[in-house]
Amino acid sequence: MRAELAELRQSALAEAAACRTAAELEAVRVRYLGRKGSLNAILRGLGSLPPGERPALGALANEVKEAIAQALAAKGAELGAEHLRRALSEERIDVTLPGRSRSRGHVHPLRQVEQEIVDIFMSMGFRVAEGPEIEDDEHNFGALNFPPDHPARDTQDTLFVAAGEDTLLRTHTSPVQVRVMRSSRPPLRVIAPGTVYRRDELDPTHSPMFHQVEGFMVDEQVTFADLKGVLILFLRRLFGPETRVRFRPSFFPFTEPSAELDIACAACGTAEAPDAACRVCRGAGWLEILGAGMIHPNVLRAGGHDPGAVRGFAFGMGTDRLTQLRYGLDDLRLLFENDVRFLGQFPF
Ligand code: PHE
Repeated sequence: MRAELAELRQSALAEAAACRTAAELEAVRVRYLGRKGSLNAILRGLGSLPPGERPALGALANEVKEAIAQALAAKGAELGAEHLRRALSEERIDVTLPGRSRSRGHVHPLRQVEQEIVDIFMSMGFRVAEGPEIEDDEHNFGALNFPPDHPARDTQDTLFVAAGEDTLLRTHTSPVQVRVMRSSRPPLRVIAPGTVYRRDELDPTHSPMFHQVEGFMVDEQVTFADLKGVLILFLRRLFGPETRVRFRPSFFPFTEPSAELDIACAACGTAEAPDAACRVCRGAGWLEILGAGMIHPNVLRAGGHDPGAVRGFAFGMGTDRLTQLRYGLDDLRLLFENDVRFLGQFPF
């Protein structure tokens, strides 16, 4: 029996040492120390020994049991530490790695330019007004001195919403003049940014949906000189102090006299010697950017004001056009396609 115990001790220690997982170790424990394990099997034979030998063998059996239990505990601790070490190195989070950045949205370039325009006029004491994009004939044409069946209406390429041609998508922001004049008293200094619509095909220079900023002033002593001063100041703030400006006589039913305003093309140098291949002005040297004039007496009257007592000026500019000039874009469609590769170049 001594020999059996010694052998058991040796093989248990060897097996425990060879274990590579906690489960394997537990199987060794059950096999040797479990209720039905090898050690108990040997101890069951104790009763058949002569009584004199029993105490010594019992003590030896306990010693063997103790030794195996200790070896199992030591190996268990070793495996636990090993497991922890591996988990720590495999599951480690490297907090020094650079994070994955999320792309940030930003304001559309068109809205940035619109906001800049509005800010400049607000600094001159203008306030912002808005009107509906679905208008009626009266606000879009009638009150703006377009006589019924007048050919000037044809130039507007109107998109009608309903049969009968009374409900339409506004072709310009000028109807906001009418709405504000009918609801407020002078002095008026108003800026009206908005979306407008015309029956046009989408191409590099046209779009059926585009944007304008309307502005107007109505007061007792407003003159054409005020109009020129305000617009020149505005353009130099938007395009730089060296910007050269040219007024040309023009015609609008709602202003008299009327003018169109050009700026010298900044992309190709001097307006007098333009570059024929310039992709911004296409060799013209000057770029038309807005229409303006003194508000027609009929429009003041339709707005509820006495043309003998107050006068006003008005202007309207194309926001898309100004954005194109600002960034040297040769195709208007870039502004409406919402391709993030394009928009990402304006990260302001
Ligand atoms: N409404 C005109 C247009 O769309 C622009 C304009 C506005 C002209 C105000 C004169 C005065 O073309």
